Amino acid sequence: MANNLLAGKRGIIFGALNEQSIAWKVAQRCHEEGATFVLSNAPLAMRMGEINKLAEQCNAPIIAADATIVEDLEKVFSGAVEQLGGKIDFVLHSIGMSPNIRKGKHYGELNYDWFQKTLDISALSFHKMLHVAEKQDALNEWGSVVALSYIAAQRAFLDYTDMSQAKAVLESIARSYGQRLGTQKKVRVNTISQSPTKTTAGTGISGFDAFYEYADRLSPLGNAPAEACADYCVSLFSDLTRYVTMQNLMHDGGFSTTGISEAMVEAITHATKEA
Ligand SMILES: NC(=O)c1ccc[n+]([C@@H]2O[C@H](COP(=O)([O-])OP(=O)(O)OC[C@H]3O[C@@H](n4cnc5c(N)ncnc54)[C@H](O)[C@@H]3O)[C@@H](O)[C@H]2O)c1
Repeated sequence: MANNLLAGKRGIIFGALNEQSIAWKVAQRCHEEGATFVLSNAPLAMRMGEINKLAEQCNAPIIAADATIVEDLEKVFSGAVEQLGGKIDFVLHSIGMSPNIRKGKHYGELNYDWFQKTLDISALSFHKMLHVAEKQDALNEWGSVVALSYIAAQRAFLDYTDMSQAKAVLESIARSYGQRLGTQKKVRVNTISQSPTKTTAGTGISGFDAFYEYADRLSPLGNAPAEACADYCVSLFSDLTRYVTMQNLMHDGGFSTTGISEAMVEAITHATKEA
């Protein structure tokens, strides 16, 4: 249901790879709500070509950028201001990648060069984005910036390996830049801690299916789907949440504050009887 919540707003959406991507759903919802925006992704992702479909649907220009390279980000922000015809009201950082996860390294044998790459892509890129936005004075007053996080920033999920540390840094950057940009320009900066979601990045994690099911059975509302995450992003980009900043916002169906659920008790009772 569209309510014109983002009418007249200009944005940049990073990280739409394919139809499963959370950023893809966010772009579709922002379009429905009347926003105009630029789509950006890494040159490698561009070569897969799927983003062109989304760009066409949303009438959105695409500007390629490796989010670890400041010069690339400078082109995205200046290009977006130019092509959209004014300063930016919202930014979505929906970027994550761990070479250690890709190569199946467990927590006890992480490759440290790759660890740094994980941090650079998944966390420092957020700092670089905000740095560029500030230097170019590219954001409008009362703008809103959101990055996507995961509860492994607070709790141990060993299969999430170095992405746990990346998410902890990401959330910390949101607080620090939230303070800075809030004071300077009334811009808010938040992270959304999203349920496990079946996307390319999500399903790349070993044991994903098990912890997807576990979270789903534990959460009173079940796992939050990508579409609902998109709705939440729209609310944070809208003028209805102007005083929410420097927060890590749980969007997880109640997972993070549940101890045990009936569904889990039943599953464990059943498994124990079987054994
Ligand atoms: N899927 C989940 O279970 C889940 C849960 C919580 C949070 N998240 C977070 O949501 C965000 C989006 O992930 P997703 O699940 O939609 O998966 P996805 O694979 O669709 O998106 C990840 C994106 O990161 C981009 N990317 C990787 N390296 C990049 C670089 N150097 N420069 C620019 N872009 C780069 C990829 O091209 C891709 O578009 C990530 O931050 C992820 O950690 C995902």
